[in-house]
Amino acid sequence: MPLPKAELHLHIEGTLEPGLAFALAARNGVELPFKDAEELRHAYHFEDLQSFLDLYYRLMAVLHTEDDFAELADAYLARAAAQGVRHAEIFFDPQAHTSRGVPLATVVEGLGRALDTSEERHGVSTRLIMCFLRDESAASAMETLLAAKPYLHRIAGVGLDSAEAGHPPAKFREVYEVAAELGLRRVAHAGEEGPPAYISEALDVLGVERVDHGLRCMEDPELVERLVRDRVPLTLCPLSNVRLRAVRTLEEHPLPAMMDAGLMCTVNSDDPSYFGGYAGDNFDAVQRALGVGEERLRELARNSFLASFLEDDEERRAL
Ligand code: HPA
Ligand code: ZN
Repeated sequence: MPLPKAELHLHIEGTLEPGLAFALAARNGVELPFKDAEELRHAYHFEDLQSFLDLYYRLMAVLHTEDDFAELADAYLARAAAQGVRHAEIFFDPQAHTSRGVPLATVVEGLGRALDTSEERHGVSTRLIMCFLRDESAASAMETLLAAKPYLHRIAGVGLDSAEAGHPPAKFREVYEVAAELGLRRVAHAGEEGPPAYISEALDVLGVERVDHGLRCMEDPELVERLVRDRVPLTLCPLSNVRLRAVRTLEEHPLPAMMDAGLMCTVNSDDPSYFGGYAGDNFDAVQRALGVGEERLRELARNSFLASFLEDDEERRAL
């Protein structure tokens, strides 16, 4: 029985497996620059975040209809459930779809359809988090937020993703202010490729409740002290960090040092189709490569529920 856990850092577009990508490409008449799923899998070698993002945006262009988005999410939920995930807070990138002519309604209703039956079909409760692409303008993010108003019953929060370096959190100050006024929860990627100062800025300027990745906090002892004191959850993604070369090898991942420092860490999969594993695979990897013991694995799993956006009574049931 895999350890019951919540997944808090998961891009639904990053769960697109090669087989489904080719099936959807055929269904929707989209040409992919690869012969077959096997050849595509061999393209999964990345130099950095940007080289991954180039393929990630290219491949998600096979997603067109509500059915496509529902199928994508349902496939993820089935895989996640098999690895012990009992609750998933799922990112999606609306601008990456609206910019190629797919209406926001198609994306949200398609994902929503899979999420609506998730507890019943897979035993996984869910939340949806809408991310803004930080390498696009703040005006585009604001437009996206306002366009989402009719769907806010389906959306729990906002996040910030895509190319980090050169796109500091403060660029999105007003967008996050409006999101807060709309009652949305707030998270942001920070300190994956960007400097530790972006983590402080995400907390101070955007008012985030969790930091996605946050890995580079370890370069700033005062920041670590603050994150420990305020119990700010970090959604770490060890296999992603290796594949995108944020760390050299899994054996050198700072997770044990971060837990030693008292940081509130969680372990997640980020883009499991691209990075070699789902949530349970990430837990197995840190156990194997870093010697993280049973007690700490249980702490990571407990943290995942505590750091989630579950209501208190739901959380107690999960724990
Ligand atoms: N980092 C930033 N943006 C992303 C990622 C990531 O790991 N995955 C999908 N969008
Ligand atoms: Zn991510």
